[in-house]
Amino acid sequence: MKAVQLVGFDGVASLRLVDVATPVPQPHEVLINVKATGVNFAEVELTKGRYDVAKQPPFVMGFEAAGTVDAVGSKVTHVKIGDRIVALVSSGGYAEYATADANLAITIPENVTFAEATTITVQGLSAYTLLKFAAKVQRSDSVLVQAAAGGVGLYLVQLAKTMGVKKVIALAGSKQKLDLVVSLGADVAINYSERGWADDVRHATDGEGVDVVLEAASGEIGEGSFKLMAPFGRMVIYGARNIHDTFSPEQIQQLIYRNQSVIGFNFPSLRPEYLTDAIPRLLELIARHKVQIFANHVFPLADVAVAFEALASRQTIGKVVLVP
Ligand SMILES: NC(=O)c1ccc[n+]([C@@H]2O[C@H](COP(=O)([O-])OP(=O)(O)OC[C@H]3O[C@@H](n4cnc5c(N)ncnc54)[C@H](OP(=O)(O)O)[C@@H]3O)[C@@H](O)[C@H]2O)c1
Repeated sequence: MKAVQLVGFDGVASLRLVDVATPVPQPHEVLINVKATGVNFAEVELTKGRYDVAKQPPFVMGFEAAGTVDAVGSKVTHVKIGDRIVALVSSGGYAEYATADANLAITIPENVTFAEATTITVQGLSAYTLLKFAAKVQRSDSVLVQAAAGGVGLYLVQLAKTMGVKKVIALAGSKQKLDLVVSLGADVAINYSERGWADDVRHATDGEGVDVVLEAASGEIGEGSFKLMAPFGRMVIYGARNIHDTFSPEQIQQLIYRNQSVIGFNFPSLRPEYLTDAIPRLLELIARHKVQIFANHVFPLADVAVAFEALASRQTIGKVVLVP
């Protein structure tokens, strides 16, 4: 079968379309005939050796796969051949076939395409569990979302609204992105590539600062966002681009004097029980059109490098999808 392997850590130059053996499902696994697979920003970092460095090339890329079940292992009872599923995968998703633990299989709702389904596994569920279990958002919270028109960001904006927070302040890098997030319910949208963005955020909170910062940007945006926290504010750090070296003594002092906290979040290390309610709740919100899915950047598997460049150069909105 055709698959995309990572053969080194030289960025997109290390991505190769190759022929490899079709994986065979273990007793607890299913084999997926992949119809769509998604690109996540962490994978851009992965190609440069800046994410999950324990995994050494060559290996088939891809955290998720949406498609039909082609075969099931001997111990699988609740998933059957022909089912439309999306799953986090054990054998790489950037391929014509991939294996997944049957317990991780999510049935794709009827009104959702395979491309759209690729947004659910990593981005949708990360956004949901991050807001619920890490940020623990309350109705009284103002929430600052960076990269708000990205794959995770669009879910964060919409889910924070469904959770009833007081105000969603969305940050993004172009007018088109800002217009979209406003149409999806963001109360305020600010272009953080323009000077003065932090003053605009503070103004939007009547000078109080924000209760929750969802931090994926790092650098100047990260530092600016850190300063914008209100008393008892909390910052959830979840971004793969977010390689904070250390916190400065001034930043630690700010945390102490303003009773603030910094919280880490990593979706892959969540225990399965965190997903028990999250999966049906997210699917229900999608089915009721309370949450819209954006998966319009679709590339053939052979154009994987073009897809990665599009994501890394900030041209995309929502999910980037690969089709075998
Ligand atoms: N911790 C976890 O478990 C977890 C799970 C899923 C995702 N994540 C993280 O969440 C973040 C979003 O992931 P995603 O897959 O949905 O990607 P994404 O947000 O769709 O990534 C692309 C967008 O990021 C923004 N961006 C900000 N700084 C950038 C930079 N230096 N280079 C390129 N783009 C930049 C751009 O939007 P603007 O033009 O608007 O800035 C761009 O369009 C990533 O950091 C990812 O690693 C973490």
